[in-house]
Amino acid sequence: MGKDVIIACDFDSAEKTFAFLDRFVGKKPFVKIGMELYYAEGPSIVREIKKRGHKIFLDLKLHDIPNTVKKSMAVLSRLDVDMCNLHAGGTCRMMEAAIEGLTREDGTRPLLIAVTQLTSTDQESMENDLLIHEPIAEVVMHYAANAKKAGLDGVVCSPLEAGKVHERCGKDFLTVTPGVRFADGDVGDQKRVMTPAEAKKIGSDYIVVGRPITAAADPVAAYERCVAEFVD
Ligand code: C5P
Repeated sequence: MGKDVIIACDFDSAEKTFAFLDRFVGKKPFVKIGMELYYAEGPSIVREIKKRGHKIFLDLKLHDIPNTVKKSMAVLSRLDVDMCNLHAGGTCRMMEAAIEGLTREDGTRPLLIAVTQLTSTDQESMENDLLIHEPIAEVVMHYAANAKKAGLDGVVCSPLEAGKVHERCGKDFLTVTPGVRFADGDVGDQKRVMTPAEAKKIGSDYIVVGRPITAAADPVAAYERCVAEFVD
């Protein structure tokens, strides 16, 4: 798969999601379905968006015992999503089990991406709450290396980390990066941001863009601007 822009469809109902997607006449952007929409509408939202011809990143961030993750991944694989994810903190054994569960009888499977440390976790909370005392940048790289060792395809990371992840895990190891903003746009609650053009330069493979597109006066124009800056 090549570079692409993934729109984060952070809506709380199918109705709002379809009203949004209906604006993209003749276009089928890659979309991310997160917990909010999935928990609101269940697997039918995945099937319906898939039927409309979109690629889907199902962002459910699984983290449980290996057997449960394996069996849950098998279910997600049957939903025919294109990309899904889990927490690398669930250990290498959990990640290996996830790959097993995700792989279909014919050997194909959706891409599997790991979340390393959430960007909402900082050094202080990692040390105090999780009792992890290494520098957070090291922890992120170690988790990325574990994901690669377990056979995953890449990680979700800040665009600022994408270059380092490629250095450590190879250029084919995918970096999926949220925290993208237009140079002249609102940053909102994202702390460390990059423009689509900068994310391209630093080597992100996919950018995940929510509000700069979903809250734009003209979402289709905002999406096309992202594609023009990042892909073309
Ligand atoms: O609206 P915005 O562009 O900030 O949306 C970014 C999307 O990426 C949201 O769905 C958010 O949950 C997700 N995300 C993130 N930062 C992470 C992981 C996921 O912003 N570290």
